[in-house]
Amino acid sequence: MNSNLSIYDNLGGEEGVRALVEAFYPRVQKNPLLAPLFPEDIRPVMEKQYMFLSQFFGGPPLFSEAYGHPMMRARHMNFPITVERADAWLECMGGALAEVGVEEPFRTFVLERLSGPAYHFVNTPG
Ligand code: HEM
Repeated sequence: MNSNLSIYDNLGGEEGVRALVEAFYPRVQKNPLLAPLFPEDIRPVMEKQYMFLSQFFGGPPLFSEAYGHPMMRARHMNFPITVERADAWLECMGGALAEVGVEEPFRTFVLERLSGPAYHFVNTPG
């Protein structure tokens, strides 16, 4: 990890964020708590996540350019998100980060950045 660079650049830019998203969604689709929330055709969700994470990690603001203000909590309101689902989401992301070769301590650093939004999206009692 080079602390002078953004998370986006540390992950390897476009290629790295794409690889991360590709590693993440198969885990989501296999997770019994998460899978039922997602559509069978996961490709459009992957593309949006690629765009969002690029900007969240300090890369180009692809999501906002295409869809306007992210308002991510609001965009998740249609889905019953419990603490258990936030844990499961972060667990899938931890696995995906490991799969694409992101090593400690950077892996935990990235997960900590994502855990703020993940628990903020909880909108349903467990
Ligand atoms: C806390 C656990 C989470 C759950 C259970 C969850 C679940 C979902 C679901 C069901 C969708 C909609 C899929 C569809 O289009 O049908 C979605 C969309 C999305 N999620 Fe999450 N999510 C979680 C956390 C996060 C986090 C932490 C981020 C990013 C930091 C994120 C980023 C996104 C993005 C960018 C979209 C696409 C939004 C759009 O349609 O414009 N999610 N999520």
